[in-house]
Amino acid sequence: MSSGRRLEGKIVIITGGASGIGAEAARLFTENGARVVIADVQDEIGQNVAVSIGEDKVSYYHCDVRDETEVENAVKLTVEKHGRIDVLFSNAGVLEKQQGSILDLDLHDFDRVMAVNLRGAAAFIKHVARSMVESGTRGSIVCTTSVAAKIAGTGTTTPHGYTASKHALLGLIKSAAGELGKHGIRVNGVAPFGIATPMVCDGFRMEAGKIEQFFSSQANLKGIVLKARHVAEAALFLASDDSAYVSGHNLAVDGGYTVVKP
Ligand SMILES: NC(=O)c1ccc[n+]([C@@H]2O[C@H](COP(=O)([O-])OP(=O)(O)OC[C@H]3O[C@@H](n4cnc5c(N)ncnc54)[C@H](O)[C@@H]3O)[C@@H](O)[C@H]2O)c1
Repeated sequence: MSSGRRLEGKIVIITGGASGIGAEAARLFTENGARVVIADVQDEIGQNVAVSIGEDKVSYYHCDVRDETEVENAVKLTVEKHGRIDVLFSNAGVLEKQQGSILDLDLHDFDRVMAVNLRGAAAFIKHVARSMVESGTRGSIVCTTSVAAKIAGTGTTTPHGYTASKHALLGLIKSAAGELGKHGIRVNGVAPFGIATPMVCDGFRMEAGKIEQFFSSQANLKGIVLKARHVAEAALFLASDDSAYVSGHNLAVDGGYTVVKP
């Protein structure tokens, strides 16, 4: 676990911060001195997260990452309230409703997954990077990718659209890191193995304990269950000055899974 105040005074936007990894990051980042804006579509749940952490430290804004106007507004409201943005944790994501063969691929669902996981991240990177460049902030952008940004072929457990969206997101991270380096802005990914968050429990239609058992049976690293907190810790490293010269990297939080199954 981290100690100290590694994001003291930093202004952070977390997309998908109402639940799972994003909510855990909101907690950890504020413990480390950040002020956080959660941008999500689950208004009641997101507001409850803000209240439970403390509304002096966390604000909740309704923002569907698929809607560029809402993204622009969330960025504008954050800058109006806090003066600038130091960190974007672009983390909102969805899974397909069906896992299955590409022979039966539902292209509407494919579009929905790409719209959130890829286009939504692109919209946030665009507007946050604009604000960082305008304010001269040497910021950090961190996106939640996945083991599915590196490997594929697991088909039934990791759907095709999800895998495609995360591979493409990694391309976007590298491309944005390449351009934004001249402004002192870093762009990285954090790539988790499986965690029993609502996205996965709903997607697999299984309760959290069973999901954890399943992922533990598949995992390379034994004797530890991956939790949202572990991913939040990696995101904290990439968000903070501890990673001051790291950019264009995709940090695996997978216990070696993608090394063993490349
Ligand atoms: N849980 C895992 O096993 C796992 C593994 C690898 C990567 N990830 C990634 O982690 C990220 C967070 O997912 P999680 O596991 O914490 O799931 P989660 O369901 O707990 O959280 C996802 C959040 O994204 C929000 N969201 C969805 N669509 C949105 C939209 N259009 N606009 C704004 N917010 C939206 C949801 O409301 C939710 O609060 C995702 O990008 C996911 O792909 C998860």
